[in-house]
Amino acid sequence: MKVTVIGSGEMGRGIALVFAQYGNDVRLEDSLPQAREKAKKYIDENLSKMVEKGIIKRGEDEEIRSRIKYYGTLEECVKDADLVVEAVPEIVELKQDIFANLDRLCRRDAILATNTSNIKISEISKKVGNKERVLGMHFFNPANRMKLVEIIKSEFTGDEYFEKAFKIGEQIGKTAVKVLKDSPGFIVNRINAPDMLFFCNVVDKGVERPEELDLYARGQGLPMGPYELMDFVGLDTVAHMLDYYAATVSEDYNKCRIFRDLVKEGKLGKKSGKGFYDWSSGKAAIPNVEPSEKVTIMDIFAIEINEAVKLIEERVALPEEIETAVKLGLNRPFGPISVARSMTNAELKKKLEQLSEFYGFKTFEPAESIKQGKLKDVISTKSFPSENQKKQVERTEPQKMGEEKKYSTLILERRENHVARILLNRPKHNFMNSDLISDLEGVIKEVWEDQEIRVVIITGSGDTFSAGAELSQFIPGMFDFVEYSRKGERIFKMLQEIPKVVIAELKGNALGGGFELPLSCDIRVSTPDAKMGLPEVTLGLIPAWSGSQRLAKLVGNSRAMYLILTGKKMTGQQAFDFGIVSELYPKETVDVDTIRFAESISLGDSPIAASLAKRLINRGADVSYDSGLEMESMAAGIIYGTDDMKEGITAMLQKRKPSYKGK
Ligand SMILES: NC(=O)c1ccc[n+]([C@@H]2O[C@H](COP(=O)([O-])OP(=O)(O)OC[C@H]3O[C@@H](n4cnc5c(N)ncnc54)[C@H](O)[C@@H]3O)[C@@H](O)[C@H]2O)c1
Repeated sequence: MKVTVIGSGEMGRGIALVFAQYGNDVRLEDSLPQAREKAKKYIDENLSKMVEKGIIKRGEDEEIRSRIKYYGTLEECVKDADLVVEAVPEIVELKQDIFANLDRLCRRDAILATNTSNIKISEISKKVGNKERVLGMHFFNPANRMKLVEIIKSEFTGDEYFEKAFKIGEQIGKTAVKVLKDSPGFIVNRINAPDMLFFCNVVDKGVERPEELDLYARGQGLPMGPYELMDFVGLDTVAHMLDYYAATVSEDYNKCRIFRDLVKEGKLGKKSGKGFYDWSSGKAAIPNVEPSEKVTIMDIFAIEINEAVKLIEERVALPEEIETAVKLGLNRPFGPISVARSMTNAELKKKLEQLSEFYGFKTFEPAESIKQGKLKDVISTKSFPSENQKKQVERTEPQKMGEEKKYSTLILERRENHVARILLNRPKHNFMNSDLISDLEGVIKEVWEDQEIRVVIITGSGDTFSAGAELSQFIPGMFDFVEYSRKGERIFKMLQEIPKVVIAELKGNALGGGFELPLSCDIRVSTPDAKMGLPEVTLGLIPAWSGSQRLAKLVGNSRAMYLILTGKKMTGQQAFDFGIVSELYPKETVDVDTIRFAESISLGDSPIAASLAKRLINRGADVSYDSGLEMESMAAGIIYGTDDMKEGITAMLQKRKPSYKGK
């Protein structure tokens, strides 16, 4: 592919390098000769480093280098380009003029992309005739190393161009995320924008000094605090960005003093040697003060989640795209969606109300879905209906978002012969997170109430049970972790209490939380090659959804010690030999075999007798032998009065199958 990159500055040089690395012919154009020289030096040095580090082979650097040609005017280098990526300074008129020229000079089917950080693509394509081919390809700095590229659709971008650009993003080794609607700042910068407003006002209002918050942030494991980072990026750039948001998103962004004051004084941060801090040594000289906790990480998360929810409501991007974009764009272990999953709607709403009241900003007021208590619905949105579908849905159903499916992470299948299947459904590993745990609580209650269901199978959709808990899920603190663990224990325990037989069908992986869930079931069946175990200790954790207790009860202390302390994975066959698994079925037929097995219980057992027997076995383990016997004789007495007991004995005498009614 022939790719032209316009502007060889901070971003253009990295974009050119990455395209060349992936085999494309690149023309790098800049009107300033010294900028071209600087870019060439940067690219040369980077290629040499890549050879030194073994990222590319010796000789490959030369090939990549030879694919990049440098130009000083557009005319020379865009005529036969398949793709043009513009990376000139963030000035709307400059970009508009460049795109007008590109429209005139490029082939009609060439994709014209801008790397703008914030400006709406439709604004940039204002002077273009064929606007269909204009879109955003927003790289992150340094473009040759950061994994993310946001592919942005303007109101005019054609689907074909959009999909093609998305594929190109993936072909150059990036994680491409789709921004489906043109909105200032797209995903990452938009979610970051209210943070800037917040940090500015924390200082303006004298809540904290920059160094107090920066030292707190570093204490939380961030490589730089927010003020240090803004100094690093350039306070003029931040102030400029806030101006754009004030004009396009909310007046609130005008209410920010300190950045503008510093810029007026010529204090631009690192590049001018002074900003919030002195940078004359090349590093920020942060005064040594006590880190303060007046502003906490939860304030920042609440603001970011709120903005993320607004982006979903406005149909700019889907939750999973937002999560990925923020993680990769801001180099974080988790994004706002996973943080939101660990919070309740009520606590988020309360935090936002406090912030909006104290700072006096509409921007911090809870988004509509949060006001209506629908946080969990909105963050589990899987797709936006097309405009046409949306209109139809609105006409027929007043409630839309999140109601397409009752459970976002599970499937409940009601089958014949009193059997139900619960499928963990988070392809492809069925990782367990707080959504899944909450859905599990809902589905167990639903099954509990349903008198038709006598036997429940729990398994995973696809080829695996569950590879365990999602470790990247954000849990804010120690106490929250305790509660998260208790919640899992409580919900898994419901499987022990439910007056129905619960069978776990193991296949693929059943690890960590994905093994604790089957341990909480009454019977386990498996494929011989399934892998199961509790590897938590080897990850610096402990089994915290009742695994440490249940495994020991099931196989005795000696084996539980061995399995938990080594973190060893057992095969289905080994678990069968240990008595953990009761039946083995071939991989190819395990789903059907398990259903047949479940039916043999649902049709063969009196439901009352089965649930009382289950209760006796479970409770008997916790009481003295004599108390257990007492419970047993009482249960036998209860059974004696049931129609099902009479039916069982009559059927046996008449040599026919019983037909139990549960009465
Ligand atoms: N710097 C970042 O961290 C970053 C991150 C993502 C996106 N962006 C966006 O990328 C774009 C470029 O930013 P940058 O940081 O690389 O800027 P920069 O100032 O480092 O580089 C811009 C280059 O464009 C050249 N230029 C100016 N007018 C030109 C013209 N008419 N024709 C050809 N070349 C011209 C300049 O000589 C300069 O070399 C901006 O829209 C910015 O918002 C920047």
